[in-house]
Amino acid sequence: MFRCTDEHEQLRAQIREFAESEIKPYAFQWDRESHFPRDVVEKMGQKGWLGIPYPKEYGGMGKDILSYSIAVEELSRVDGGTGVILSAHVSLGSWPIFAFGTEEQKQKYLVPLAKGEKIGAFGLTEPNAGSDAGGTETTAVLEGDHYVLNGEKIFITNGGEADTYVVFAVTTPNIGTRGISAFIVEKGWEGFTIGDHYDKLGIRSSATAQLLFDDVKVPKENLLGKEGEGFKIAMATLDGGRIGIASQALGIAQGAFESAKNYTLDRVQFGKPVAFQQGMSFKLADMATQIRAARMLVYSAAELKENHESYGMEAAMAKQYASDTAVKVTEEAIQCFGGNGYLKGMDVERMYRDAKITQIYEGTNEIMRVVISSHLLGKPPK
Ligand code: CAA
Repeated sequence: MFRCTDEHEQLRAQIREFAESEIKPYAFQWDRESHFPRDVVEKMGQKGWLGIPYPKEYGGMGKDILSYSIAVEELSRVDGGTGVILSAHVSLGSWPIFAFGTEEQKQKYLVPLAKGEKIGAFGLTEPNAGSDAGGTETTAVLEGDHYVLNGEKIFITNGGEADTYVVFAVTTPNIGTRGISAFIVEKGWEGFTIGDHYDKLGIRSSATAQLLFDDVKVPKENLLGKEGEGFKIAMATLDGGRIGIASQALGIAQGAFESAKNYTLDRVQFGKPVAFQQGMSFKLADMATQIRAARMLVYSAAELKENHESYGMEAAMAKQYASDTAVKVTEEAIQCFGGNGYLKGMDVERMYRDAKITQIYEGTNEIMRVVISSHLLGKPPK
């Protein structure tokens, strides 16, 4: 059994208590109203959780990746939307600045992100560049001391709510992925507007929006890494991001399992709690087994990343397996509730909808298999 330390368990207990009191009672309302819980995110920031894995000198808590994974899991156990707000902020909005930023960029952007004073987001996906992220069409043209950014990004988690965006654009056309660069872009810059806010099936407490760039002047010093390194920065960022989404999926599955267990222990039919009917007890057994396996994959990917070992394949495996588990477990949880599980306002109904996206974003589970098999097999023979 993978064992968390006492410190991990203390953090888990703190976040669970917060999630039970500050999030769970409102999760249905946020879901119904598509409400972004800014006040709760601010409180999480004050507790340091928006910078869990970043060093103290950059405003973070100086904890490990497993602590971050546990935080996303615990938030998602009650509300998958709040879980992904943290995941997109930490893994996608902040990490590329931490890993590839200059000291000046870290001081200016990472410190307020890690302290929770600002929210971060990641702008990669476009209408013609989804799974094929290398097909990026947004352009950045160098003119004197700034780049001029033009294009459109879609499906951006924390879009509109975030202050700091890591955005990918083509600086050298016609040379494929090596022509893509990364930039740090601030909300409010002239020409940068927020377009559509998407009305989603699930994770409705998280904001998802379109970003529009119309001749946005990005100072040269906001280039992240070197020109042409953007695609590798995006891919490396997503390797870590997938641990966050895997943690979110794990939390959703755990929350649905607990609801199903409690309900079936309470609900009496044929003279005893339905949990003790074999059909139901076997369901609970399968759910618990799948969740345990998912947890092993997620925590071990977090441990590999923490130890600076290769973790891209393991993160993809964790994301794929945990997200499939979240969908299966939430579906079975509804079955355990019977007709009651099909009703609006029931946790399991919301969790079922929240689970689905984990098979899609930060790389579909089909792309996860591309990533896993390319690690296993290398490049095909010419
Ligand atoms: N780390 C560093 N470099 C990497 C890398 C990684 N993990 N993966 C690939 N690269 C490098 C390769 O080594 C190669 O380098 P060279 O040019 O030096 O040879 C270069 O990147 C191109 O690699 P590929 O030929 O493998 O690239 P590809 O175009 O075939 O794409 C892919 C590979 C895995 C399919 C990739 O496009 C991909 O991951 N797609 C999915 C995109 C995705 O996950 N989008 C999610 C958007 S964000 C989101 O959903 C967030 C949210 O809001 C919550």
